[in-house]
Amino acid sequence: MPTKPTCPEPRRRCLRALAAALASAWGTGAHGAVRNTIRLSHVVARDTPKGMALEHFAQKVEERSQGRIRVQIFPQGELYGDHDEMQALQLGAVDMVAPSLSKFGPVGFPEFELFDLPFLFDRVEAVRRLTRGTVGNDLLQGLRRQGLLGLGFFDNGFKQLSANRPLLEPRDFVGQRMRVQASRVIAQQMRAWGAWPVVLPFSETRRALETGVVDGTENPLSNFWTQGMQAVQSDVSLTAHGYLGYAVVTHQRFWNHLAWTDQTLVRDALDEALAYGNAIADAHNNKALVALRQSHATRIHVPTEHQLQRLKQASQPVHAAFAARMGPMWLQGVKAELQRLA
Ligand code: SIN
Repeated sequence: MPTKPTCPEPRRRCLRALAAALASAWGTGAHGAVRNTIRLSHVVARDTPKGMALEHFAQKVEERSQGRIRVQIFPQGELYGDHDEMQALQLGAVDMVAPSLSKFGPVGFPEFELFDLPFLFDRVEAVRRLTRGTVGNDLLQGLRRQGLLGLGFFDNGFKQLSANRPLLEPRDFVGQRMRVQASRVIAQQMRAWGAWPVVLPFSETRRALETGVVDGTENPLSNFWTQGMQAVQSDVSLTAHGYLGYAVVTHQRFWNHLAWTDQTLVRDALDEALAYGNAIADAHNNKALVALRQSHATRIHVPTEHQLQRLKQASQPVHAAFAARMGPMWLQGVKAELQRLA
Protein backbone atom coordinates (compact mmCIF):
# COMPACT_ATOMS: atom_id res chain seq x y z
CA MET A 1 0.00 0.00 0.00
CA PRO A 2 1.45 3.40 -0.88
CA THR A 3 2.22 5.67 1.99
CA LYS A 4 0.53 9.05 2.10
CA PRO A 5 2.93 11.56 0.54
CA THR A 6 4.13 14.19 2.97
CA CYS A 7 3.56 17.72 1.83
CA PRO A 8 5.63 20.25 3.74
CA GLU A 9 5.06 22.84 1.02
CA PRO A 10 1.84 24.75 0.37
CA ARG A 11 -0.81 22.26 -0.74
CA ARG A 12 -1.19 23.43 -4.34
CA ARG A 13 2.57 23.37 -5.07
CA CYS A 14 2.85 19.99 -3.42
CA LEU A 15 -0.03 18.59 -5.49
CA ARG A 16 1.68 19.84 -8.64
CA ALA A 17 4.88 18.02 -7.71
CA LEU A 18 2.92 14.85 -7.01
CA ALA A 19 1.06 15.16 -10.28
CA ALA A 20 4.34 15.35 -12.13
CA ALA A 21 5.74 12.37 -10.24
CA LEU A 22 2.68 10.24 -10.95
CA ALA A 23 2.02 11.46 -14.47
CA SER A 24 3.13 8.34 -16.29
CA ALA A 25 0.58 5.95 -14.81
CA TRP A 26 -1.18 5.77 -18.17
CA GLY A 27 0.97 4.95 -21.20
CA THR A 28 4.56 3.88 -21.47
CA GLY A 29 6.58 3.96 -18.26
CA ALA A 30 10.24 4.75 -17.82
CA HIS A 31 11.40 1.31 -18.95
CA GLY A 32 9.11 1.01 -21.94
CA ALA A 33 6.60 -1.20 -20.07
CA VAL A 34 2.94 -0.40 -20.71
CA ARG A 35 1.35 0.72 -17.43
CA ASN A 36 -2.32 1.34 -17.90
CA THR A 37 -3.40 2.24 -14.42
CA ILE A 38 -6.43 4.29 -13.42
CA ARG A 39 -5.72 5.90 -10.04
CA LEU A 40 -8.91 6.34 -8.06
CA SER A 41 -9.06 8.12 -4.72
CA HIS A 42 -11.88 8.21 -2.16
CA VAL A 43 -12.31 8.99 1.53
CA VAL A 44 -14.31 6.16 3.11
CA ALA A 45 -13.49 2.62 4.26
CA ARG A 46 -13.23 -0.26 1.79
CA ASP A 47 -16.16 -2.09 3.43
CA THR A 48 -18.71 0.67 2.85
CA PRO A 49 -21.14 0.70 -0.10
CA LYS A 50 -18.93 3.24 -1.88
CA GLY A 51 -15.71 1.36 -1.12
CA MET A 52 -17.21 -1.92 -2.31
CA ALA A 53 -18.76 -0.46 -5.46
CA LEU A 54 -15.39 0.96 -6.48
CA GLU A 55 -13.63 -2.35 -5.77
CA HIS A 56 -16.26 -4.00 -7.96
CA PHE A 57 -15.45 -1.49 -10.70
CA ALA A 58 -11.72 -2.25 -10.44
CA GLN A 59 -12.36 -5.98 -10.63
CA LYS A 60 -14.61 -5.68 -13.71
CA VAL A 61 -12.17 -3.43 -15.56
CA GLU A 62 -9.28 -5.78 -14.91
CA GLU A 63 -11.29 -8.85 -15.87
CA ARG A 64 -12.69 -7.37 -19.08
CA SER A 65 -9.40 -5.89 -20.22
CA GLN A 66 -7.70 -9.19 -19.33
CA GLY A 67 -5.36 -7.38 -16.99
CA ARG A 68 -4.35 -4.73 -19.51
CA ILE A 69 -6.02 -1.98 -17.46
CA ARG A 70 -5.62 -1.81 -13.71
CA VAL A 71 -7.58 0.34 -11.29
CA GLN A 72 -5.53 1.34 -8.28
CA ILE A 73 -7.76 2.43 -5.42
CA PHE A 74 -6.65 4.71 -2.59
CA PRO A 75 -9.42 4.51 0.07
CA GLN A 76 -9.90 6.26 3.45
CA GLY A 77 -8.39 9.52 2.16
CA GLU A 78 -4.97 7.88 2.37
CA LEU A 79 -3.75 9.82 -0.66
CA TYR A 80 -6.10 12.79 -0.83
CA GLY A 81 -8.82 13.97 1.52
CA ASP A 82 -11.96 16.03 1.06
CA HIS A 83 -10.12 19.30 0.66
CA ASP A 84 -7.71 18.26 -2.06
CA GLU A 85 -9.09 15.32 -4.06
CA MET A 86 -10.77 17.52 -6.69
CA GLN A 87 -7.62 19.57 -7.03
CA ALA A 88 -5.59 16.37 -7.37
CA LEU A 89 -7.91 15.35 -10.21
CA GLN A 90 -7.54 18.73 -11.91
CA LEU A 91 -3.77 18.45 -11.70
CA GLY A 92 -3.63 14.87 -12.93
CA ALA A 93 -2.33 13.39 -9.66
CA VAL A 94 -5.29 10.96 -9.76
CA ASP A 95 -7.56 9.96 -12.63
CA MET A 96 -10.90 9.46 -10.91
CA VAL A 97 -12.58 10.50 -7.69
CA ALA A 98 -15.97 9.73 -6.19
CA PRO A 99 -16.79 12.57 -3.79
CA SER A 100 -20.10 13.01 -2.09
CA LEU A 101 -22.35 15.49 -3.93
CA SER A 102 -22.00 17.86 -0.96
CA LYS A 103 -18.37 18.45 -1.89
CA PHE A 104 -19.03 19.95 -5.33
CA GLY A 105 -20.38 23.30 -4.08
CA PRO A 106 -17.09 24.68 -2.75
CA VAL A 107 -15.26 23.83 -6.00
CA GLY A 108 -17.63 25.81 -8.23
CA PHE A 109 -20.73 23.63 -8.66
CA PRO A 110 -23.29 25.02 -6.13
CA GLU A 111 -26.17 23.37 -8.02
CA PHE A 112 -25.07 20.00 -6.59
CA GLU A 113 -26.05 21.23 -3.11
CA LEU A 114 -29.61 20.51 -4.18
CA PHE A 115 -29.07 16.99 -2.86
CA ASP A 116 -28.27 18.34 0.62
CA LEU A 117 -31.64 20.01 1.14
CA PRO A 118 -33.13 18.47 4.29
CA PHE A 119 -36.30 16.43 3.77
CA LEU A 120 -36.39 17.09 0.02
CA PHE A 121 -36.46 13.37 -0.77
CA ASP A 122 -38.49 10.74 1.02
CA ARG A 123 -37.46 7.69 -0.99
CA VAL A 124 -34.09 6.84 -2.38
CA GLU A 125 -35.64 5.46 -5.61
CA ALA A 126 -37.00 8.93 -6.41
CA VAL A 127 -33.53 10.48 -6.18
CA ARG A 128 -32.06 7.71 -8.29
CA ARG A 129 -34.63 8.35 -11.00
CA LEU A 130 -33.84 12.04 -10.81
CA THR A 131 -30.11 11.47 -11.25
CA ARG A 132 -30.74 9.11 -14.20
CA GLY A 133 -32.94 11.70 -15.94
CA THR A 134 -32.46 15.22 -17.33
CA VAL A 135 -31.62 16.78 -13.97
CA GLY A 136 -28.76 14.32 -13.40
CA ASN A 137 -27.57 14.64 -16.96
CA ASP A 138 -27.52 18.46 -16.79
CA LEU A 139 -25.57 18.35 -13.54
CA LEU A 140 -22.95 16.03 -15.01
CA GLN A 141 -22.74 18.14 -18.18
CA GLY A 142 -22.10 21.20 -15.99
CA LEU A 143 -18.85 19.63 -14.77
CA ARG A 144 -17.43 20.30 -18.24
CA ARG A 145 -17.09 23.96 -17.20
CA GLN A 146 -13.90 22.89 -15.43
CA GLY A 147 -12.70 20.26 -17.89
CA LEU A 148 -14.21 17.45 -15.81
CA LEU A 149 -16.32 14.56 -16.99
CA GLY A 150 -19.05 13.13 -14.77
CA LEU A 151 -19.41 9.40 -15.30
CA GLY A 152 -22.38 8.64 -13.08
CA PHE A 153 -24.16 8.87 -9.75
CA PHE A 154 -24.66 6.41 -6.94
CA ASP A 155 -25.40 6.75 -3.25
CA ASN A 156 -25.38 5.59 0.32
CA GLY A 157 -29.02 6.28 1.16
CA PHE A 158 -30.05 8.61 3.96
CA LYS A 159 -28.16 10.31 6.76
CA GLN A 160 -28.91 9.94 10.46
CA LEU A 161 -27.74 12.12 13.34
CA SER A 162 -25.39 11.32 16.19
CA ALA A 163 -24.24 13.15 19.32
CA ASN A 164 -24.00 12.54 23.04
CA ARG A 165 -27.70 13.23 23.38
CA PRO A 166 -30.77 12.53 21.25
CA LEU A 167 -31.27 14.99 18.37
CA LEU A 168 -34.94 14.74 17.52
CA GLU A 169 -36.25 18.26 17.22
CA PRO A 170 -34.78 21.77 16.96
CA ARG A 171 -34.47 22.46 20.70
CA ASP A 172 -32.14 19.42 21.06
CA PHE A 173 -29.60 21.06 18.73
CA VAL A 174 -29.09 24.25 20.69
CA GLY A 175 -25.43 24.68 21.60
CA GLN A 176 -24.30 21.57 19.72
CA ARG A 177 -21.26 21.84 17.44
CA MET A 178 -22.00 19.58 14.52
CA ARG A 179 -19.40 18.36 12.04
CA VAL A 180 -20.64 18.96 8.51
CA GLN A 181 -19.33 18.50 5.01
CA ALA A 182 -18.31 21.69 3.20
CA SER A 183 -21.81 22.39 1.88
CA ARG A 184 -23.52 25.73 2.43
CA VAL A 185 -26.87 23.98 2.53
CA ILE A 186 -25.84 21.57 5.28
CA ALA A 187 -24.28 24.39 7.30
CA GLN A 188 -27.55 26.35 6.98
CA GLN A 189 -29.53 23.28 7.93
CA MET A 190 -27.58 22.97 11.19
CA ARG A 191 -27.98 26.67 11.94
CA ALA A 192 -31.69 26.51 11.16
CA TRP A 193 -32.03 23.72 13.70
CA GLY A 194 -30.12 25.67 16.36
CA ALA A 195 -26.68 24.02 16.09
CA TRP A 196 -23.30 25.41 15.19
CA PRO A 197 -21.86 23.81 12.01
CA VAL A 198 -18.14 22.97 11.88
CA VAL A 199 -16.73 21.97 8.48
CA LEU A 200 -14.25 19.12 8.79
CA PRO A 201 -12.89 16.51 6.38
CA PHE A 202 -14.44 13.09 6.77
CA SER A 203 -11.08 11.60 7.78
CA GLU A 204 -10.86 13.94 10.80
CA THR A 205 -14.41 13.48 12.02
CA ARG A 206 -14.02 10.56 14.39
CA ARG A 207 -11.04 12.15 16.13
CA ALA A 208 -12.87 15.47 16.39
CA LEU A 209 -15.80 13.70 18.05
CA GLU A 210 -13.49 11.84 20.38
CA THR A 211 -11.60 14.94 21.51
CA GLY A 212 -14.73 17.06 21.84
CA VAL A 213 -13.84 19.47 19.02
CA VAL A 214 -17.37 18.75 17.83
CA ASP A 215 -20.34 17.22 19.66
CA GLY A 216 -22.08 15.38 16.87
CA THR A 217 -22.42 14.73 13.18
CA GLU A 218 -24.62 13.23 10.44
CA ASN A 219 -23.98 10.31 8.11
CA PRO A 220 -25.53 7.07 6.90
CA LEU A 221 -24.99 4.34 9.47
CA SER A 222 -22.54 2.36 7.31
CA ASN A 223 -20.12 5.31 7.39
CA PHE A 224 -20.77 5.81 11.11
CA TRP A 225 -20.12 2.17 11.94
CA THR A 226 -17.05 1.62 9.73
CA GLN A 227 -15.35 4.67 11.28
CA GLY A 228 -16.03 3.33 14.78
CA MET A 229 -17.97 6.45 15.73
CA GLN A 230 -20.14 4.39 18.10
CA ALA A 231 -17.18 4.36 20.47
CA VAL A 232 -17.30 8.15 20.76
CA GLN A 233 -21.02 8.97 20.41
CA SER A 234 -23.62 7.82 22.90
CA ASP A 235 -26.76 8.53 20.85
CA VAL A 236 -27.95 8.00 17.30
CA SER A 237 -31.22 9.55 16.12
CA LEU A 238 -32.87 7.96 13.09
CA THR A 239 -34.11 11.08 11.32
CA ALA A 240 -33.24 10.10 7.71
CA HIS A 241 -33.36 13.84 7.04
CA GLY A 242 -30.94 14.03 4.15
CA TYR A 243 -29.48 12.12 1.26
CA LEU A 244 -25.84 11.14 0.73
CA GLY A 245 -25.04 10.70 -2.94
CA TYR A 246 -21.83 10.48 -4.93
CA ALA A 247 -20.66 11.27 -8.44
CA VAL A 248 -17.76 9.53 -10.14
CA VAL A 249 -15.68 12.12 -11.95
CA THR A 250 -12.68 11.96 -14.25
CA HIS A 251 -10.77 14.62 -16.15
CA GLN A 252 -11.47 15.12 -19.86
CA ARG A 253 -7.72 15.27 -20.49
CA PHE A 254 -7.31 11.78 -19.03
CA TRP A 255 -10.45 10.45 -20.70
CA ASN A 256 -9.35 11.65 -24.14
CA HIS A 257 -6.21 9.54 -23.82
CA LEU A 258 -8.28 6.36 -23.73
CA ALA A 259 -9.13 4.52 -26.92
CA TRP A 260 -12.90 4.65 -27.43
CA THR A 261 -13.08 0.88 -26.90
CA ASP A 262 -11.47 1.38 -23.48
CA GLN A 263 -13.81 4.27 -22.74
CA THR A 264 -16.72 1.90 -23.41
CA LEU A 265 -15.17 -0.83 -21.30
CA VAL A 266 -14.63 1.56 -18.39
CA ARG A 267 -18.11 3.10 -18.66
CA ASP A 268 -19.81 -0.31 -18.79
CA ALA A 269 -17.85 -1.58 -15.79
CA LEU A 270 -18.66 1.60 -13.89
CA ASP A 271 -22.38 1.50 -14.69
CA GLU A 272 -22.46 -2.02 -13.36
CA ALA A 273 -20.48 -1.07 -10.24
CA LEU A 274 -22.72 1.91 -9.49
CA ALA A 275 -25.83 -0.25 -9.74
CA TYR A 276 -24.11 -2.74 -7.42
CA GLY A 277 -23.29 0.08 -4.95
CA ASN A 278 -26.92 1.22 -4.92
CA ALA A 279 -28.12 -2.35 -4.47
CA ILE A 280 -25.98 -2.95 -1.36
CA ALA A 281 -26.36 0.47 0.29
CA ASP A 282 -29.61 -0.32 2.10
CA ALA A 283 -28.38 -3.69 3.29
CA HIS A 284 -25.16 -2.16 4.65
CA ASN A 285 -27.00 0.57 6.49
CA ASN A 286 -29.42 -1.97 7.94
CA LYS A 287 -26.52 -4.22 8.94
CA ALA A 288 -24.85 -1.29 10.66
CA LEU A 289 -28.08 -0.57 12.56
CA VAL A 290 -28.30 -4.19 13.76
CA ALA A 291 -24.62 -4.10 14.75
CA LEU A 292 -25.17 -0.84 16.64
CA ARG A 293 -28.15 -2.30 18.47
CA GLN A 294 -26.21 -5.44 19.37
CA SER A 295 -23.13 -3.53 20.51
CA HIS A 296 -25.17 -1.58 23.12
CA ALA A 297 -22.54 1.15 22.70
CA THR A 298 -25.07 3.66 21.45
CA ARG A 299 -28.66 4.46 22.30
CA ILE A 300 -30.92 4.51 19.24
CA HIS A 301 -33.79 7.00 19.05
CA VAL A 302 -36.66 7.19 16.61
CA PRO A 303 -38.33 10.63 16.27
CA THR A 304 -42.08 10.90 16.52
CA GLU A 305 -44.07 12.28 13.60
CA HIS A 306 -44.45 15.58 15.52
CA GLN A 307 -40.74 15.89 16.12
CA LEU A 308 -40.04 15.26 12.43
CA GLN A 309 -42.62 17.89 11.51
CA ARG A 310 -40.82 20.42 13.72
CA LEU A 311 -37.51 19.62 12.03
CA LYS A 312 -39.14 19.92 8.60
CA GLN A 313 -40.73 23.21 9.53
CA ALA A 314 -37.41 24.59 10.74
CA SER A 315 -35.81 23.49 7.44
CA GLN A 316 -38.01 25.72 5.25
CA PRO A 317 -35.66 28.74 5.32
CA VAL A 318 -32.85 26.47 4.07
CA HIS A 319 -34.94 25.57 1.00
CA ALA A 320 -35.87 29.23 0.50
CA ALA A 321 -32.24 30.39 0.70
CA PHE A 322 -31.13 27.72 -1.80
CA ALA A 323 -33.96 28.65 -4.17
CA ALA A 324 -32.94 32.30 -3.95
CA ARG A 325 -29.31 31.44 -4.76
CA MET A 326 -30.07 29.13 -7.67
CA GLY A 327 -33.15 30.92 -8.97
CA PRO A 328 -36.60 29.79 -7.75
CA MET A 329 -37.58 28.37 -11.14
CA TRP A 330 -34.73 25.91 -11.08
CA LEU A 331 -35.71 24.37 -7.73
CA GLN A 332 -39.39 24.38 -8.72
CA GLY A 333 -38.43 22.51 -11.90
CA VAL A 334 -36.57 19.89 -9.86
CA LYS A 335 -39.51 19.47 -7.48
CA ALA A 336 -41.92 19.12 -10.42
CA GLU A 337 -39.63 16.50 -11.95
CA LEU A 338 -39.54 14.63 -8.62
CA GLN A 339 -43.33 14.59 -8.52
CA ARG A 340 -43.51 13.41 -12.09
CA LEU A 341 -41.14 10.55 -11.32
CA ALA A 342 -42.85 9.55 -8.05
C1 SIN B 1 -18.45 9.87 2.01
O1 SIN B 1 -19.32 9.01 2.18
O2 SIN B 1 -17.81 10.01 0.98
C2 SIN B 1 -18.09 10.80 3.16
C3 SIN B 1 -19.22 11.62 3.58
C4 SIN B 1 -18.80 12.68 4.58
O3 SIN B 1 -17.82 13.39 4.38
O4 SIN B 1 -19.52 12.82 5.58
